Amino acid sequence: MWPLFTTVCLRSRAGCRSSVSAAGLTSLFSHSAPLSAPTCRALLYRKHGDPSRVLQLEDVDLPPVGAKDVLVKMLAAPINPSDINMIQGTYAILPDLPAVGGNEGVAQVVEVGCQVKSLKTGDWVIPKDAGLGTWRTEAVLAEDDVISLPSDLPLLSAATLGVNPCTAFRMLSDFEDLKPGDSVIQNAANSGVGQAVIQIAAARGINTINVIRDRPEFSQLSDRLKAMGATHVIKEEALRRPEMKELFKTCPKAKLALNGVGGKSATELLRHLQFGGSMVTYGGMAKQPVTVPVSALIFKDVKVRGFWVTQWKRDHSNDEKRFRAMLDELCRLIQQGQLTAPACSQVGLHDYSRALEAAMQPFTSAKQLLIM
Ligand SMILES: NC(=O)c1ccc[n+]([C@@H]2O[C@H](COP(=O)([O-])OP(=O)(O)OC[C@H]3O[C@@H](n4cnc5c(N)ncnc54)[C@H](OP(=O)(O)O)[C@@H]3O)[C@@H](O)[C@H]2O)c1
Repeated sequence: MWPLFTTVCLRSRAGCRSSVSAAGLTSLFSHSAPLSAPTCRALLYRKHGDPSRVLQLEDVDLPPVGAKDVLVKMLAAPINPSDINMIQGTYAILPDLPAVGGNEGVAQVVEVGCQVKSLKTGDWVIPKDAGLGTWRTEAVLAEDDVISLPSDLPLLSAATLGVNPCTAFRMLSDFEDLKPGDSVIQNAANSGVGQAVIQIAAARGINTINVIRDRPEFSQLSDRLKAMGATHVIKEEALRRPEMKELFKTCPKAKLALNGVGGKSATELLRHLQFGGSMVTYGGMAKQPVTVPVSALIFKDVKVRGFWVTQWKRDHSNDEKRFRAMLDELCRLIQQGQLTAPACSQVGLHDYSRALEAAMQPFTSAKQLLIM
């Protein structure tokens, strides 16, 4: 079910509030009308299509803060491939229109309703589910729709924690019993998910064989991924070459393959799985189906699986302890310097067209992060 605040028709609820100082609120809404009718700036779309055409930065009314609501100031929100697909109308879940773009990001609580128990002003929060509409300056959200983070995390890490590191964490935890010394092979290794896989695996003593597309600056990118803990970084073309035999003298064949690309790249990953290993598909950047050779099924008994972090979060929405335990472990890795945010270009919300255009370019190796 979509949260109501995804749409522009914001609800109006009676409620009591415990808030930051009037001065704080005045500065929060300094761009807007009187406090009685606060508005925020939001990137809205009224129909699906090319994001650079259908998105517009508009003033949106904010409803009163209800007893179980919080008013938040968005701090930063990334542009992920699924955000683009949602606006294009090609994603698995679509909000009612008009809608505010963005599914991920970090916000700071500036006001809490009188029955809010788990949050206080000043807390940093991230969405629990997709569909929140994070490309906006402020929002009134239900307490239950967000979860708090330590506010000493680096801003970029907090803003990009809820989707990609959670996806990497679950895929490394839930499909194969990986032990130190085991290997994982993945394509799109320079993606947000891929970088999180490298770092979480390295923290667990797991080897990663990281496949990226060739580019003029391959060796710089390879060095960057190795500095994060990648065991090997190879080009897509190398997957078919005899040199892979040399590589597997230094680490075992993979128990787990992570596929964010599809097409030929996915088929090539399967060659390097151990007997009985799993390939988990989580993305389809090449927009090509996954072909599994008959031999991989018969002679290697590979398991071909899929993963969607949104479904995982929904399946565990009544088990906040499990979500909290994952976030705690990811935050601990961040605080210990073992999990860094992906390379990001920080762009002001008003400059969203530039950020969208950059986000849709190949070979950028940097995520666009909207700063509110
Ligand atoms: N299932 C889930 O729960 C889940 C969760 C998070 C993300 N995802 C999906 O995972 C994928 C990656 O997301 P992200 O946020 O990590 O992405 P990202 O940081 O924006 O990176 C995009 C990645 O895709 C690669 N790529 C783009 N077009 C490609 C093509 N035609 N062939 C091969 N590689 C291509 C890019 O490589 P180059 O540098 O070579 O362009 C880059 O590695 C997306 O499909 C996203 O929707 C799924």
